[in-house]
Amino acid sequence: MTSSLIENVALQAAQRCIERECGASYSLDDRLYVCRRCGGLLEIARGSESADTAETLRGVWQQRLASNDVRDRSGVWRYRELLPFGEDARVVSLMEGNTPLYDARRAARYCGLDNLKLKHQGCNPTGSFKDTGMTAAVTQAALLGVETVVCASTGNTSASLAAYAARADLKCAILVPRGQISHAKLAQSLDYGAAVLELEGNFDDCMRVIRELAEDESFYLVNSINPFRIEGQKTVAAEMLQQLEWNVPDHVVVPGGNLGNSSALGKGFVELYELGVIDRLPKLSVVQAGGAAPFAQLFADRQMLTGKDAEGVNWLGSVSLIAIEHPQTLASAIKIGSPISWKKASRAVVETGGFVLSVSENEIADAKAVIGRDGIGCEPASATTVAGIKRLVADGLIKSDETIVAVLTGHVLKDADYAINYHRDTLFTHDRTPGKSKEERHIAGLFGNPPARVKATKQGILDQLARREEGKDYAGGDD
Ligand code: F0G
Repeated sequence: MTSSLIENVALQAAQRCIERECGASYSLDDRLYVCRRCGGLLEIARGSESADTAETLRGVWQQRLASNDVRDRSGVWRYRELLPFGEDARVVSLMEGNTPLYDARRAARYCGLDNLKLKHQGCNPTGSFKDTGMTAAVTQAALLGVETVVCASTGNTSASLAAYAARADLKCAILVPRGQISHAKLAQSLDYGAAVLELEGNFDDCMRVIRELAEDESFYLVNSINPFRIEGQKTVAAEMLQQLEWNVPDHVVVPGGNLGNSSALGKGFVELYELGVIDRLPKLSVVQAGGAAPFAQLFADRQMLTGKDAEGVNWLGSVSLIAIEHPQTLASAIKIGSPISWKKASRAVVETGGFVLSVSENEIADAKAVIGRDGIGCEPASATTVAGIKRLVADGLIKSDETIVAVLTGHVLKDADYAINYHRDTLFTHDRTPGKSKEERHIAGLFGNPPARVKATKQGILDQLARREEGKDYAGGDD
């Protein structure tokens, strides 16, 4: 039953322009990134399926949790009925997905909530959510028979692509802004054997150049402009909901950078809803870092914080996002001024009735430390979610008894320097505005936990631990 469903999806699916007035359609094996007719973004449009599939799908996905088939072990390919690939497609997988959904007691209290769940996409094979999309994009690259896969990146996409390209035996070239990605991410890409090209400029410059490069047939671009990436990433919606036993949360909150993730989750939720697998949509909200928040600015300008459906759809056709030329944030993963997928993400937020907002560097830093204190941890960009939720609760837009899932996008070890500087109280923004003092650039955290130097004696250690108990050396605040 489901293998025929897979074939149906694969056969009937097409690449379609998202612009309503255009809607041009292209076959799945057509190699293009934007619409040839109007330049609009492309998405995979599913074919129609029979009406009674929801229960079957839920049953099959549940059974697969106990299977040893390589595709069933992957938290992406387990949901292959949702994907535009045939049953016999040779998948390139690192058994991505399967990430935990944690209860976060302290983070909930910090936000003013009864409960908060954290879906930790940083527990993927290369330590970020990118793997769920990359398995699909590199599978497509291999099917197309391309020689070299390429991307521009703030570090995680490149680490992920480098790994999947190595698995598929494809050549890989990545463009990163020199000196602006974390050591850990750079180290990964080098280890996985990619050609790492460091550009003078920021991520947006890398994105511009890589798109020019991809006009050359020998390079296949797998940034989230590639609709197959989005397909893989959307399965996170299914995995999360299955973990929740198909009880739809009131809110799902994600960080926003290039806006591929929010676009993908939105698509995932909407498709599950259309298939009847879930009976309502969660509100999908996006949180950006204040210094790199063109999407939040767009919504603030249009007073779209509580986007209404019809209004939103009309509104989308008539506005354009104003890029930020020099984005600034220590959350380097989301230091992006001109997000590619803003239209798809707008649609997702408006369709689901979510919010878009930005938070300060201080809010991000403290939220990250709180997530750490739950024993979970994440990289700075991921912590925008908890900081954003705290704001939304304070503003009365999220109620304390609502059900919330925040998506953590990267592992805590992705940016160890940031964590160490925070806890040592040596975290400074890179803001070089003339006249701005070092003191003004200092991020004074509320939960610093600096390491202590102790004499190499038992008594030295006991004394230090006693001081810590008294709270003298530790600003963390216990409960
Ligand atoms: N969180 C992390 C850890 C990321 O690496 C990114 C994006 C985001 C959030 C934002 O997701 O772009 O889909 O809105 N990183 C990209 C990269 C840009 O190149 O690794 P988005």
